[in-house]
Amino acid sequence: MTPYRVQLVCLGNICRSPMAESVLRRQADEAGLRRRLAVDSAGTGGWHVGDPADRRARAVLSEHGYAVDHAAKQFHPSMFADRDLVVAMDSENLRDLRRLAPDKVTASSVRLLRAFDLDADSLDVPDPYYGGREGFEDVLHTIEAACAGLLDHLRQVIPAGSRATIVSDAPGNGERAHSSGRRGR
Ligand code: 4NP
Repeated sequence: MTPYRVQLVCLGNICRSPMAESVLRRQADEAGLRRRLAVDSAGTGGWHVGDPADRRARAVLSEHGYAVDHAAKQFHPSMFADRDLVVAMDSENLRDLRRLAPDKVTASSVRLLRAFDLDADSLDVPDPYYGGREGFEDVLHTIEAACAGLLDHLRQVIPAGSRATIVSDAPGNGERAHSSGRRGR
């Protein structure tokens, strides 16, 4: 049986969504869902394709004991077809993903990560890229709380018999890059 495939999406795929990927994997591992879930991440923009996670994200993750092994990818609309759940880090990512969706049903299936955190005071995971190191620490705690809620959701929706390994190489990762032209660097 195929795994349940979760796609985490931010803007550049070097800060928030790779952090969420590391966190969700570890939480899934601890919850015994490791073999039933495939976790992947991507960015709506393509400027950092192939880059490792931001050094501040790597530092904060490894300080907290999370594994980080990442090469940035751009989200491609074809990914909608082979992911079970697409999760945006903020409302801008959500809007961009909904514009890329092939139909209204798919567009409305895209969720915000923090919508899974019942105690969240905002629906956005703030973009830490232009701030300092403390911002990354705060974002990690925000992501940990939201991923715990997402995992509760996944426990309900993942079929009990499904099995797989957590992979970063979910199908479709080779499809990189339509260019969006923003924030080129
Ligand atoms: P992320 O953060 O979306 O959390 O990966 C950003 C990374 C890069 C840029 C913006 C946000 N950028 O403009 O290059």
